[in-house]
Amino acid sequence: MKNSWLLCLAPLLLLAASPLAGAWSLSCGSDGSYAANSTYEANLRHLAVVVPAETASSSPGSYVDRSNGYWPNRPRAVSRCRSSDGDCATCVADAFKIVEVGCPFSKEAAFFSRNCSLRLGEFSIFESDLFGEYCQY
Ligand SMILES: *[C@@H]1O[C@H](CO)[C@@H](O)[C@H](O)[C@H]1NC(C)=O
Ligand SMILES: *[C@@H]1O[C@H](CO)[C@@H](O)[C@H](O)[C@H]1NC(C)=O
Repeated sequence: MKNSWLLCLAPLLLLAASPLAGAWSLSCGSDGSYAANSTYEANLRHLAVVVPAETASSSPGSYVDRSNGYWPNRPRAVSRCRSSDGDCATCVADAFKIVEVGCPFSKEAAFFSRNCSLRLGEFSIFESDLFGEYCQY
């Protein structure tokens, strides 16, 4: 399975006008989608609940890497904040929402903003480079 991110730094103008917006960008991966109400979706929602607080409590700039569930229903989230102030958890929580709206049912997505980043993907032991050098900032 080849990793094919759409062009990085392509902001979704539709969403950029929303109240969630600061300056941010979103890329949706084109490999793989999950079904509505699937186990994958439920496991992803759990990540959306726990990852913002975990990111906020980790040291600024360090990555938090979490997966949930059992393969093949094992979504993975890699997030980080630039600082650990009160905006971190909100920034990551908003990132999950923006991904859900902007990349509907896509297993892979990459979100970047000034204060935080979030990458989502399908956990796979065969793709250790899934979160490789794409879109580093
Ligand atoms: C980013 O963090 C700064 C403080 O470090 C805060 O003032 C600003 O509102 C944050 N921006 C967003 C979009 O959360
Ligand atoms: C998903 O669940 C919701 C609420 O239970 C339901 O309204 C919807 O039709 C379901 N969608 C699918 C595709 O099963």
